[in-house]
Amino acid sequence: MISVTGRRFHLAGKNFSYVFEADAAGYLLHLYFGPRIADEDISHLAAPSFLSFSPMPPQATSVDFSLDTAPQEYATYGQGDFRRPSAIYRRKGGRASNLRYAGYEIGENVVPQGLPHVRAGETLAVKLHDTLADVAVTLYYTLAPDSDVLVRHMEIEAGEELTLERAFSFSLDLPVGEYDVLRLHGRHLAERIPCRTPLGHGLCRIESSRGASSHQMNAFLAVMEHAAGEDHGSVYGFGLIYSGSFALEAECGQTDVRVQGGINDLGFSWELGRGEKFTAPQAILAYSSSGMGGLSRVYADFLRAHILPPKHVYSPRPIVINNWEATYFDFDTPSILKLIDEAAPLGMDTFVLDDGWFGARSDDHRALGDWYVNTQKLAGGLQPIIAHCKERGMKFGLWFEPEMISEDSDLFRAHPDWAIGTEPRCKSRDQYVLDFSRPEIVDEIYARMAALLTEYDISYVKWDMNRHITEFCGEKCRGREGELAHRYMLGVYALAERLTKNFPDVFFEGCSGGGGRFDAGMLYYFPQVWTSDDTDPFERAKIQWGTSYAYPMSAMSCHVSASPNHQTGRKTALSVRGHIASLGATGYELDLCKLTEEEKEEIKAQIRAYRETEELILRGDLYRLCDPFETNYFAELVVSKDKARAYLVGMTARFIPSDYNRRLRLKGLDENKQYHVRELGITLHGSTLMHAGLLIPKQHDYETWVWHLEEVL
Ligand code: GLA
Repeated sequence: MISVTGRRFHLAGKNFSYVFEADAAGYLLHLYFGPRIADEDISHLAAPSFLSFSPMPPQATSVDFSLDTAPQEYATYGQGDFRRPSAIYRRKGGRASNLRYAGYEIGENVVPQGLPHVRAGETLAVKLHDTLADVAVTLYYTLAPDSDVLVRHMEIEAGEELTLERAFSFSLDLPVGEYDVLRLHGRHLAERIPCRTPLGHGLCRIESSRGASSHQMNAFLAVMEHAAGEDHGSVYGFGLIYSGSFALEAECGQTDVRVQGGINDLGFSWELGRGEKFTAPQAILAYSSSGMGGLSRVYADFLRAHILPPKHVYSPRPIVINNWEATYFDFDTPSILKLIDEAAPLGMDTFVLDDGWFGARSDDHRALGDWYVNTQKLAGGLQPIIAHCKERGMKFGLWFEPEMISEDSDLFRAHPDWAIGTEPRCKSRDQYVLDFSRPEIVDEIYARMAALLTEYDISYVKWDMNRHITEFCGEKCRGREGELAHRYMLGVYALAERLTKNFPDVFFEGCSGGGGRFDAGMLYYFPQVWTSDDTDPFERAKIQWGTSYAYPMSAMSCHVSASPNHQTGRKTALSVRGHIASLGATGYELDLCKLTEEEKEEIKAQIRAYRETEELILRGDLYRLCDPFETNYFAELVVSKDKARAYLVGMTARFIPSDYNRRLRLKGLDENKQYHVRELGITLHGSTLMHAGLLIPKQHDYETWVWHLEEVL
């Protein structure tokens, strides 16, 4: 619901309200973000006025008004607000700006062109004019149907020449309070580690300047009341529908906490000529009064319903056998055919040929960009492999790394200027990044990929991205280097858009050295993303736990791999690996030829069991029960929306002697329903399961257990 009373705006989702006003002088003031409140009371909300060592702007209509203390919706620069501005633009007249209200419009979903976005909604567009410059800023607020999220973005139109130095997507000033901030940091093989710290006075800023949202910091920031926990208390979530260099800030000042973010301004600049516009990516703002768990469910529901590709989001996922950890680069047609022969009877339905099938790609030092089948390695090309898959009722998938170029490649030899940067360049995994800010390069990569997708029956594409951008410069962007990182992302999105549109039946999985680009931008095109290169179930449980703070389980691609694990050397049972992989879009990535008959039977049973619970993974509500970062245990429970079914996976990190009285209290069930717990052979009420709980089974190091719960009618 969007309601407007005079110059007051009330945006209400199912459970939240967001209120702001244009005051008499035209300043846009933030009034409220929290649990839903009555529309008729909106006129009683007031922005505090406070002036003490804070300057008063010339247009102020009250003597105690200062932009330095007023809670704002989008902060300008140089008019006495000493906090960080939301946008900075340099023009002949300097950098100061003074944005004031100039009207509004309400209409159908307005989306940022060329960027991933919320797929449906109603949009309030609030127009601001700068009294100091010929500049118009429009703030967009979109409410998606039946959702608890507010989506914001910003567009700036220049009536005179200017250089944007910062152009954040959103900003708001929350009232002063005791807050913590939670971010998801990490590294390769250990993505999205939750880190919660008090928000002290000053600036908390998270960012990526790598040209990708990155393993190191995810494009999501939660601001939590200090008293909030997993299941209770006020939590705000701020995530970006963007996959490039980003920044999110929470700045605790004298009167409030300014939260804002968008494209990272470090190294960013954008030239606008007269009449030109710049559009910032969308941000997801959400509020939950049920703690971090509640916020995660709001995010999961929103992403599934309004961001992920509708065609694939709720459809049963391919259960892949991926050859990467089975063979690495060492494969040929016979070894691949053998793998397919083994996979089909186990119930795997898609074979994915990973890195190494193209050009002279015998290792990771060469051939990226040469997207032609290596027929020396694969006798007869892809056709015999695809035919073999089909004969066994399986589909075929192929790995690409579209954004990359190796120095040792035909593509580089033909177009040495296509790599970002100028000589000498930094290498990373011995490769360079293609300059996707240049449409002709995107066109060529599209042509190469489209040729393969047209010629062959390919139903699955894994889109990888294995290095970050270092030199933000190039032959063609001289003088406009600050635009390169964002223009690069526009190129990536253009390619993803074209491929997914023209090949709508192909299922795309995103990847970036594991989960280095796991964000809402990528999820707009790809229904799932490879969560991490770390497939050790103990480590994976933690990575999936952290990822679940801001993303749905079904978006996490999770494979069962070999033991000892290739990344950690840890030995775990096949059942353990299967259980942890069943908490996402499950698949397999190991040499099936080395399995014993018992292991094959076990995998068959795992796949049958997975298909049984898949509906829960695709549509259910996740409840995090035991935090593996804080306790010796891990447990997650997914409950169907009608609360009739639930599935729990638990893990014991280390066996603790005589630790026999640990109770696990379930969550999210219906107190009054009776549930049969299949593995325990008992039937109990939801109230008992949630309040008295169940004993954690006695287990050894790195062992898991599962409980299937079914309503008894
Ligand atoms: C990345 C991916 C892996 C695999 C390799 C291939 O690291 O995350 O899954 O595809 O590249 O080079």
